[in-house]
Amino acid sequence: MIKVGIIGGSGYTGGELIRLLLNHSQASIDFVYSTTRAGKPVTSAHQDLLGVTDLLFSGEINPDVDVVFLCLGHGNSTQFLEDNTFSKQTKVIDLSNDFRLNKDAKFNGTMFVYGLPELNKTAITKAVAIANPGCFATAIQLALLPLAKEDLLSNDVHVNAVTGSTGAGVGLSSTSHFSWRNNNVSWYKPFTHQHLGEIGESLASFKNAIGELYFLPNRGNFTRGILATAYTTFEGSLESAQKLYQDFYSEAAFTHISDEPIHLKQVVNTNQCHIHLHQHKNQLLITSAIDNLIKGASGQAVHNMNLMFGFTENEGLQLKAGVF
Ligand SMILES: NC(=O)c1ccc[n+]([C@@H]2O[C@H](COP(=O)([O-])OP(=O)(O)OC[C@H]3O[C@@H](n4cnc5c(N)ncnc54)[C@H](OP(=O)(O)O)[C@@H]3O)[C@@H](O)[C@H]2O)c1
Repeated sequence: MIKVGIIGGSGYTGGELIRLLLNHSQASIDFVYSTTRAGKPVTSAHQDLLGVTDLLFSGEINPDVDVVFLCLGHGNSTQFLEDNTFSKQTKVIDLSNDFRLNKDAKFNGTMFVYGLPELNKTAITKAVAIANPGCFATAIQLALLPLAKEDLLSNDVHVNAVTGSTGAGVGLSSTSHFSWRNNNVSWYKPFTHQHLGEIGESLASFKNAIGELYFLPNRGNFTRGILATAYTTFEGSLESAQKLYQDFYSEAAFTHISDEPIHLKQVVNTNQCHIHLHQHKNQLLITSAIDNLIKGASGQAVHNMNLMFGFTENEGLQLKAGVF
């Protein structure tokens, strides 16, 4: 058994990590650090775990854990690692965007590997630190990487994606307030969302020409999940596109191509990404769906941990969606 520490324990991704790791056969939770709830039961923040765990939040870290997950807002992970020292053996998995871009990947002599297993599996298995991808970034990259690899993404790409309210974290804001969010839909940060940087770096990693990416993020009136649609010029047949995607994801543990049109509920509460392809004239429409908190955050972080420690890829992540 490896010993795990979680920082940012009372937040949404922290809560999902606790839930996943309590069901992991090779990992045990050593501490769940909280700045606001030290000494209180974990269930005081995560009522879904009542009867499942007696863990208490801690105000102290154990520097000798095998791996620590940082479930903190942007900028706070850097600050936390500056203020706290872990043993040389402790691996780090960070869920914020502090270390995702190439220019930020080196911190105090440690290299953070971008933790998208479908792109970087070999590097992840050897990594000591992981920058876990963003949630929109995960859904969009998985929709576009096969085209980028085959040099088929040189035309403009239009992406429209809608996310649930948990994407904004546990803190209440004017646009996550029930009265605003319920029965409502809106876009935000049109064409300028912060995940464009990491998406662009991954697409460029194949060294092929990449067209302009126009990304319109939307806030949906549901709590969990991301449904992303992307379309671009594609001159081949639908069958050739399907083969290309099947081949690219043939070794992927959690990304699957669906012949049928997909919908959000088939992936919510799972670590799956489902992808569907549709052709209209010379346009290829790619739809991808993930759970923002699992495949887009905590589940992908556990997948990365499994790869780093040589565990079976789907250990702790065999989850079925509640579709009906
Ligand atoms: N939500 C998503 O769908 C999603 C998806 C992918 C990536 N992410 C990224 O994952 C990270 C965590 O997201 P989240 O949704 O879990 O956020 P969250 O719900 O806001 O939780 C963050 C937690 O961090 C702790 N915290 C706050 N300020 C801190 C500080 N200065 N120092 C140490 N701890 C502090 C708080 O927990 P305590 O009060 O217990 O200390 C807080 O509940 C973010 O960077 C986010 O962008 C989120």
